[in-house]
Amino acid sequence: MTSTGNQGMRHDTDSHLQQTPEQLIARLKQAQDQLMQSEKMASIGQLAAGVAHEINNPIGYVRSNLTTLGDYCRSLLLINQAYEQALGDAVSEPTLLQLTQQHDLPFIREDLPSLLEESHEGIERVGKIIRSLRDFSRTDSGELEPVDVHKTINQALTVARNEIKYRAEVITDFAELPLIEAVESQLGQVFLNLLVNAAHAIEEHGEIHITTVLKGRQISVRIRDNGCGIPAANIKRLFDPFFTTKPVGKGTGLGLSLSYNIIRTHHGEMLVESEPGKGTEFTVLLPLQQPAGESAEEIPQ
Ligand SMILES: Nc1ncnc2c1ncn2[C@@H]1O[C@H](COP(=O)(O)OP(=O)(O)O)[C@@H](O)[C@H]1O
Ligand SMILES: [Mg+2]
Repeated sequence: MTSTGNQGMRHDTDSHLQQTPEQLIARLKQAQDQLMQSEKMASIGQLAAGVAHEINNPIGYVRSNLTTLGDYCRSLLLINQAYEQALGDAVSEPTLLQLTQQHDLPFIREDLPSLLEESHEGIERVGKIIRSLRDFSRTDSGELEPVDVHKTINQALTVARNEIKYRAEVITDFAELPLIEAVESQLGQVFLNLLVNAAHAIEEHGEIHITTVLKGRQISVRIRDNGCGIPAANIKRLFDPFFTTKPVGKGTGLGLSLSYNIIRTHHGEMLVESEPGKGTEFTVLLPLQQPAGESAEEIPQ
């Protein structure tokens, strides 16, 4: 895979004094755009948190009712069998026999437990998604905390599941990593954005490889897809707010600029390599620890 220009992706350390008025205006415009994007993300985050909260309650009682229903069903089936044995020959009494056949009692007996189990699994999955959504949209999460990066990646995978499952297989190669100092919900957003982008780049039957490596005092997370790739001309604009090649409604063009900002405030780096037609690899580099006395700049969710 050829590297198509990592330059310009790194934290820009140019002195403001060396810049022309045009460059300063462009910078100002970008800062303004980023502010807008932060506000937009904040309202989306609030919306998601609200929905997650509302859904959490009904899910709670559906889950608990399902457990009770399962117990009741098992009791009823046991009693039904006991009745059958007690009735002996009377079981073939015509009305009883007709009812049993009409409702296919043997099938109901067989099907009930698996239906209940499936419903349980379904509700557990919904619960998991809701928990991840709430984690992602926590608004009180500007605090640095010890973060298990693999857990955060797995949560992002849960949220992105729908986008990914019909198009790509996810292959993970996780190294042993220590906890890192970061704002968990923000890192989650970065991984979610990268994963959804990877999925969108794949038409069908692709692969998304997620590799983590510990390199000295920093970790790297690589997310590689074998999707459509990015033309060299677009690479420079990838991290610009509102840059998107997706149709209206599908892309906002905010994912990468927000992700870039998050990684930058964590004193990390985000790199990209891509080859049109072959695929793309995003690499996120993060230090294990943030500089002493500093907290990550707050980015509203
Ligand atoms: N993995 C990828 N493969 C191909 N193109 C990508 C990938 N990730 C990002 N892009 C390109 O970068 C653009 C900007 O991405 P992003 O900021 O996440 O906004 P959005 O996904 O809303 O378009 C996308 O529209 C797409 O053209
Ligand atoms: Mg995106």
